[in-house]
Amino acid sequence: MSDAAQTPNAKFKPRIFSGIQPSGNLTLGNYLGALKRFAQKQDEGIETIYCLVDLHAITVWQEPEALKRQTREAAAAFIAAGIDPARSILFNQSQVSAHAELAWLLNCVARIGWMYRMTQFKDKTSGKNAENSSLGLLAYPSLMAADILLYHATMVPVGEDQKQHLELTRDIAAKFNHDYKTDFFPSPEPLIEGAATRVMSLRDGSKKMSKSDPSDASRINLTDSADTIAKKFRKAVTDPAPLPETLDGLAERPEARNLVNIYAALADKTVEDVIAEYGGQGWGVFKPALADLAVDKLAPISTEMARLMNDPAEIDRILGQGAAKADEIAQPILAKTLDIMGMVRSR
Ligand code: TYM
Repeated sequence: MSDAAQTPNAKFKPRIFSGIQPSGNLTLGNYLGALKRFAQKQDEGIETIYCLVDLHAITVWQEPEALKRQTREAAAAFIAAGIDPARSILFNQSQVSAHAELAWLLNCVARIGWMYRMTQFKDKTSGKNAENSSLGLLAYPSLMAADILLYHATMVPVGEDQKQHLELTRDIAAKFNHDYKTDFFPSPEPLIEGAATRVMSLRDGSKKMSKSDPSDASRINLTDSADTIAKKFRKAVTDPAPLPETLDGLAERPEARNLVNIYAALADKTVEDVIAEYGGQGWGVFKPALADLAVDKLAPISTEMARLMNDPAEIDRILGQGAAKADEIAQPILAKTLDIMGMVRSR
């Protein structure tokens, strides 16, 4: 038997699924950890399905009009970053009702204790009254498992912060297969690759760059102007020492490491290449070079996003078409899941 035939996913067609919450401005972290890699995967000849997870976004309060705008803006970001709606399926989650339906079924497979153990749930409720957060926030990972399993996806490109949710997805699939004595669901593999799987805040190297950070200076937004991008990198917190001559020299320097990782990911180079080029140089040289590179790579994306946002009807049309294609794959898988679980299906 070949290696592939021994893996639990051997009977499933290779298929990539991933998602992004349209809950605010997308950041450089979303771009390097997700969008840029989504576009690369599309070019590898594997079927790719990408989703704006608006049902996940409402696990915390969203102004309805802002959510609609952010969803269209996130769709524009996907397209501007190179996702081609003719080659990838691009849609928003709430337009394919099977996501919510499978999530309910999986809620009855997953255990509450698994949800309480999720670090993202703990982070989002720390210091606050967990009892007062939405029930959806606790069940969030089960909806995420539904997103992935609804398409029998075998690979899920994500940033480092989603690793635990992917492990939970695999646990839910395994428990379903075990409880119902089937091999219906695959065990999806997280794809966490490249130099920028965890882009950190520009103000604090121990915190993830995040669209929900109260400090706008902590992140680069995909909609930032060239001037703003340059200013944020110039002001990025670093230690005073020059860049190290070797990779080991970055070990105890989270801020320096972050900027080098960002440079490497934007330039499609390895971290070693960047150290070879800039080792021994001061921040006065490296920060402007990084700012120029970032503007070079991001300005065309924000320009294209702005252009696409001038025609929201066209974005809606693309999302509608994507949803119809997604629905075609999802419906038979949902129907089979209901059947396996013992629901009478008579129409
Ligand atoms: P979200 O919306 O927080 O982030 C979307 C993607 O961007 C990555 N990312 C980062 N990567 C590197 N550095 C960062 N600072 C950074 N910030 C965000 C995330 O890892 C993610 O890949 N739960 C998911 C959305 C989701 C999903 C799914 C993902 C729902 N269903 C199914 C994959 C498959 C989330 O909140 O991502």
